[in-house]
Amino acid sequence: MSKEQQRREAVQQAVGRIRDQLQGREISKETLSIVEAELIKLANKEDLFSFEDFPPPSDEDPRSSCLYRLSEDEDHGLALYANVADGKVDAPPHDHTTWAVIVGLKGQEENRFYDKAATGVSQKGSAVVEKGKGVCLLADDIHSIHIRKGEPVLNFHMYGLALEQLHNRRYWSEPKQEWKVFPAHVDIRDAR
Ligand SMILES: [Fe+2]
Repeated sequence: MSKEQQRREAVQQAVGRIRDQLQGREISKETLSIVEAELIKLANKEDLFSFEDFPPPSDEDPRSSCLYRLSEDEDHGLALYANVADGKVDAPPHDHTTWAVIVGLKGQEENRFYDKAATGVSQKGSAVVEKGKGVCLLADDIHSIHIRKGEPVLNFHMYGLALEQLHNRRYWSEPKQEWKVFPAHVDIRDAR
């Protein structure tokens, strides 16, 4: 079996187990920890997820990160992506309007968590996403993402609904001092 086939099979099996376990259950931090555990198991198949297979944006690309679609249900649910970054990333505090689970494979991504404040946000904690570690976010939870230049990052992002369908994700613009809407993603690459 080719590496691509092995990867597709491993992804389908992991997503299938997640689908079965979420069936009929309400989404909570507890059910999302099941998703996290399955994605950590998938991340352990290291040879199937390399930077050769999921290259970060090239030096000429103005973006420092990009997304590859690994799986998505027909109704756009259970959307799984490989996110790769090479270079500095500072994504502002934002929500997702659906649940999200991030699990690390390579490198380190700092996540900071926030409460909504009268004006903007107030930080309430942080966690590093790296190999074997993840974070789980409910639809209203707010986080920001920080990656340092020098070590490329590869991780899994799974959402309750595909990113192209999320038209109302909000982020806090510190310079503008206001909540703004992220345009839905349009540049997701299909994994080989
Ligand atoms: Fe996010």
